[in-house]
Amino acid sequence: MELKEKTKKYLNKKCQSLDGKTIVLTGATSGVGLKALEELLFLGANVIMAVRNQEKAEEIKKEMLFEFPNANIQIYPLDLSSFDSIKKFAARIKRNKIDVYGFVNNAGVFKSDKNKTIDGYNMVMGTNYLGTYLLIERLLPYLQTLPHEVKLINTTSISYKWGKINYNDFLFDKKKKRPLKVYSRSKLCITKYSIYMANKLMDSNIVTIMTHPGIVKTNLLMEMFKPWYMRIFKPLANIFMKPEKGALSIPYALTNKIRSGSLIGPNGPFKGWGKPKLNKLKKKAYNDIERLIVHTKGIITITNKDI
Ligand SMILES: NC(=O)c1ccc[n+]([C@@H]2O[C@H](COP(=O)([O-])OP(=O)(O)OC[C@H]3O[C@@H](n4cnc5c(N)ncnc54)[C@H](OP(=O)(O)O)[C@@H]3O)[C@@H](O)[C@H]2O)c1
Repeated sequence: MELKEKTKKYLNKKCQSLDGKTIVLTGATSGVGLKALEELLFLGANVIMAVRNQEKAEEIKKEMLFEFPNANIQIYPLDLSSFDSIKKFAARIKRNKIDVYGFVNNAGVFKSDKNKTIDGYNMVMGTNYLGTYLLIERLLPYLQTLPHEVKLINTTSISYKWGKINYNDFLFDKKKKRPLKVYSRSKLCITKYSIYMANKLMDSNIVTIMTHPGIVKTNLLMEMFKPWYMRIFKPLANIFMKPEKGALSIPYALTNKIRSGSLIGPNGPFKGWGKPKLNKLKKKAYNDIERLIVHTKGIITITNKDI
């Protein structure tokens, strides 16, 4: 599993130490999140793995402790497709007075066989957007009491550019759409919400940054392709689309001075490959944000009387 020398060199040169700082990382059990976990531990961070699969996380923790024997790793259960789980998770962070330095919302899904979340929403919109939104809203009052800057990192994707929002069928209840359409909308929504947060909290201790890994070979990416296509594509992906490289945007965003509301991701061809840099956001990311927030609050309030 160990990090490549090239990655270690990059982390030493372009990122700061995270010695003793606590980072909460969702989706730390696979793909980009798993590699980000390793990179954050390399930089000395204490990491809380926020995960839905505890057994898998325990195995990973064991492997990480083998590589970093002094690491401080904790596992907290979090299922982003359940509002109840999100509330319990947020309550635990507050109750344990976790001194959060960075909160990384990395977990996400592309498509799912199970169509609906526990609360009855489209799985992809429910997990990538509504779940992440609720998690942030539940945690914000607590994070704002911390006596230092807190970096809130939200993972988006270059696919936000293709996202379209239709408020008549926001959660795809009426019409089934192709997975890429659903996924792109979820990523456009999280992008707009991140910009909203950055503007709203400009004078607070919360710095909101978006990251994306480019195009890297993970379970999520593999779900996009049909099996026959995969046979051609996989060997190339193994060489050119390494999650270890895509994950670098996360430690980079956490340890460099970056303006709230910025997007960090690979800056090479199609923004799919390359070293992390500031990416320019498309105009559509800034349009009509208030409407999205009002709409989202409406949905969340129906399900959560106590928000
Ligand atoms: N791969 C790419 O090319 C690419 C490009 C752009 C953006 N991204 C974004 O990068 C992020 C990481 O994706 P990845 O490519 O690394 O995919 P991945 O390998 O499938 O990892 C997804 C992670 O999210 C977790 N997760 C999924 N549903 C969850 C839920 N309901 N509650 C809690 N955790 C949940 C998974 O947990 P389990 O281990 O239990 O499944 C896993 O740890 C996503 O936000 C994705 O949209 C990826």
